[in-house]
Amino acid sequence: MNHVNIGFAGTGRIARALISGLCRKENLTVWGYDKEPAALKAVCEEFPVRSCPSLEEIARASDVIVLAVKPYQIEEVLEILKPYLSEKHLLVSVAAGISTEYIRKHAGESIRVIRAMPNTPAFVGEGMTAICKGAAATEENLAFSKELFSSIGRVAVLEEFQMDAATAVSGSGPAYMFHIIDSLADAGMKCGLTSDEAVLLAAQTMLGAAKMVLTSDRSPEDLKHEVTTPGGTTEAGLKILNEKNIRHILQETVTAAAARSRELMK
Ligand SMILES: NC(=O)c1ccc[n+]([C@@H]2O[C@H](COP(=O)([O-])OP(=O)(O)OC[C@H]3O[C@@H](n4cnc5c(N)ncnc54)[C@H](OP(=O)(O)O)[C@@H]3O)[C@@H](O)[C@H]2O)c1
Repeated sequence: MNHVNIGFAGTGRIARALISGLCRKENLTVWGYDKEPAALKAVCEEFPVRSCPSLEEIARASDVIVLAVKPYQIEEVLEILKPYLSEKHLLVSVAAGISTEYIRKHAGESIRVIRAMPNTPAFVGEGMTAICKGAAATEENLAFSKELFSSIGRVAVLEEFQMDAATAVSGSGPAYMFHIIDSLADAGMKCGLTSDEAVLLAAQTMLGAAKMVLTSDRSPEDLKHEVTTPGGTTEAGLKILNEKNIRHILQETVTAAAARSRELMK
C-alpha cells in the first residue's frame, strides 16, 4: 500500500477503536480533529496521532477522511469540509443510518464515499464491520476500506440496500448477545452457580461457539446436531428453545431493528 494520510473528523469512541487498530499498520499517517479538545488531546497522547486545529486542516492533510461524529453532526461537518474537498479525497463514514447519497448531497456529487457500520466489539479487536460504496467510489476504494476496517475485526462488503439488515444483525447484535449471556447466566445461577461463575461459563461458551462456526466449514445447524446426543441433556434444553420458538423471536427482533434503521435513515 502507498503511504496514506488518514484524517479523523471526530476522535470519540469508535474513532479511538479504529485508530488503535490502524496504528499497527505501516504506511499510514493518522491525523485527528475533534470539537472537544479533551477528546483530541487524549487520543493524541495514547496513539501516534497528529493533532489538527480544524476540519479544514484535516482536509488539507488527508487523502482519506473518516467521518466519526454522531449522525446528527454529519451535515455540519460536511458543510465545513465541502470547500476543501477535491478528487483526491475519499470520505469514509461510520455514522449509523447516514446514506452515501446524503453525504454526496452535502459534500458534492462527485465525491467518493464509503459507508461503514462497525460494532462495539471493535473496542477489543473483534469488530464486525459492514461496508458499502457510494455511486462515485471505486472497487479500489472499497478494497482499501476493507483493509482499514480489518484492523478492528472482520469485514463484509455489502450493497447499500443491505445496510439496514447489517445494522439489525451485527450493529445491534452485541446488545442481543449481552442479553442472551445475561439470561443464560441468570438461569445458571438459579441452578446453583455463583454470579461470576455463571457469567464466565455463559460468555466463554458464546465465544467458543462463535469461534467454532467461524473456523469450521460446517454449518451452525450441523455443529448443533454434532453436540446433541439423543436422549441427552442438550436435547432436553433444545426442546424448550424449539417449543418457545427462539428462531421466530430472533426473526422478529431483527425485523424490528431493520425497520427502525430504515426509519432513521437519511
Ligand atoms: N460507538 C459505537 O459503538 C458505534 C458503532 C457503530 C457506528 N457508530 C457511529 O460512529 C459515530 C461516532 O460515534 P461515537 O460513539 O464514536 O461518538 P462520540 O464518542 O460522541 O465521538 C464523536 C466525537 O466527535 C466530536 N464532534 C462533534 N462535532 C464535531 C465537529 N464538527 N468536528 C469535529 N468533531 C466533532 C464530538 O464532540 P462533542 O461530544 O463535543 O459533540 C465527539 O468527541 C456515530 O455516527 C455512530 O453512529 C458508533
